[in-house]
Amino acid sequence: MADIYDPAFVKGVFDRCSGKYIAFSLICSFGFTERWRKQCVADLPEPTTPNPVGYDLMAGTGEIWPHLLQRFPDLASITAVDISSGMHQRALERLHRHRAHRIAFIEDDVLASNLPAQSADFVVSTFGLKTFNAEQHAKLAELIAQSLRPGGVFSLIDASDPKGWLLRPLYLFHLKVVLPLVERLFLAGAQDFTMIGTYSTNFGDASAFGDMLRAEGLEVEFKRCFFGCATLVAGRKPA
Ligand SMILES: C[S@@+](CC[C@H](N)C(=O)[O-])C[C@H]1O[C@@H](n2cnc3c(N)ncnc32)[C@H](O)[C@@H]1O
Repeated sequence: MADIYDPAFVKGVFDRCSGKYIAFSLICSFGFTERWRKQCVADLPEPTTPNPVGYDLMAGTGEIWPHLLQRFPDLASITAVDISSGMHQRALERLHRHRAHRIAFIEDDVLASNLPAQSADFVVSTFGLKTFNAEQHAKLAELIAQSLRPGGVFSLIDASDPKGWLLRPLYLFHLKVVLPLVERLFLAGAQDFTMIGTYSTNFGDASAFGDMLRAEGLEVEFKRCFFGCATLVAGRKPA
């Protein structure tokens, strides 16, 4: 059986999804993914330096960039990191519309990318946590902590399992039955979007990842969005 957390496996899933990813995520989440990207940027603590530079990890096609550039008009640069060539290709097409001179793209496995120590004023990531297992989360927490400058800020959000919510069965039905059906009927794909549902329910929520960031010495706030359908961790590296 395939290891669904093997970076090569994850890359394959997103390479195949990339053409329809933006439309699928917007429509099938009823617009919530876009709302949560905005929330991720809104909850990023204020950077301490003017003209901040930073990373968008598991950037996809750069869905978060317009929100970042809107909140921080003086932002100097975003370096996007993503493992998927398909997502990279689509990101390049979007770069021109979102001030390409301020955005660089690294196509790589983030955990193998050796981002330079203390190179970022901010780190953001939207929906990029769930395709990692616990061991990979620990490496990611370490990477974020070491790549941030003292005083640097971070905010990461992902879809989560809203345990305890009255409507959780309906949410899981949407994730595990409706979305696979949509993919089978309309996308004729290899059930790649269906994998996103599997990753989301395996992930649980971002609280354990928040603890890993705390263990790396970061100040962390954990937040549940819309009854826990998404969870967010945001905070700062002490100055
Ligand atoms: C659900 S998409 C999220 C894309 C985008 N950030 C958004 O807001 O929609 C997850 C992304 O994480 C990327 N990814 C998964 N594992 C990765 C890894 N080890 N290194 C870099 N990127 C990775 C995938 O290629 C995919 O583009």
